[in-house]
Amino acid sequence: MDEATRKELTAWLEFYEELGIEGFYRRKPGTAGPAQATPVGVEPRISAAPQAPPAVTVTAKPTSPDFGVRTPDTRRDLRPPAPTFSLFEAAPAPRSGPETLEQIREDLGDCRRCKLAPGRKTIVFGEGNPHAEVVFIGEGPGADEDEQGLPFVGRAGKLLNRMMEAVGLKREDVYICNVVKCRPPGNRTPEKDEVDACSPFLYRQIESIKPRLVCCLGAPAVRTVLGIKEGITKIRGQFYNFGAAKALATVHPAYVLRNPREEKILHEDFEKIRDFLKNP
Ligand code: URA
Repeated sequence: MDEATRKELTAWLEFYEELGIEGFYRRKPGTAGPAQATPVGVEPRISAAPQAPPAVTVTAKPTSPDFGVRTPDTRRDLRPPAPTFSLFEAAPAPRSGPETLEQIREDLGDCRRCKLAPGRKTIVFGEGNPHAEVVFIGEGPGADEDEQGLPFVGRAGKLLNRMMEAVGLKREDVYICNVVKCRPPGNRTPEKDEVDACSPFLYRQIESIKPRLVCCLGAPAVRTVLGIKEGITKIRGQFYNFGAAKALATVHPAYVLRNPREEKILHEDFEKIRDFLKNP
């Protein structure tokens, strides 16, 4: 490291130390994520998010005594590279071996990492089989979910249940979660800083479950998980490589509630999920 960089880094470290922030880790550039999200069997035609520069991530609340300068471990890493420097982004848990969902939930704690915290009633962590073959990812909890602490239990959830039943999937066999775990006010789309704060926990959940398929419900999930900014109607129904797994994007059930004639496309994509899961 050259002298100028060393000085600048020291100044930043002192600055954050004054803020009471002590835990740092350096994310290895080029880990799997948006830049590697390519349609299966097709030349990449969508420009996925550009490769992020090495990101230094700061955590405001170290949760473990050995929380020092770290690089991500060597387990299969599905997390996209951090797109920006984030004050609130949580570091991966400093544990060896696969994490359980319980451990991740414990790390999340009574989360105050973003501005959604004061408005929420309940953290909606996720629900389902910890070894599910398929993980569904929505946008964020609505009023019913905030009340009950469970994902997709309102009207959009009923439609999701119906879509799953139609292709022989049982809710208890899959895992369901969201890009953000706290309800955005008025059910607005989660903002970037909120997604940046919450998504590391989502990536850790996916890593823990190790599903064969990740199904992104709607644009925020597609952006967060695959780093694809293209409109959902253009990219839906396609499989993407996603680490050792595959990912499929489809429309959000709430979109179908607003546009009932589009139910057939959601159903069509769920049939693709069924066919995918049939093949070992
Ligand atoms: N919409 C979502 O995106 N997630 C939920 O949990 C409920 C509705």
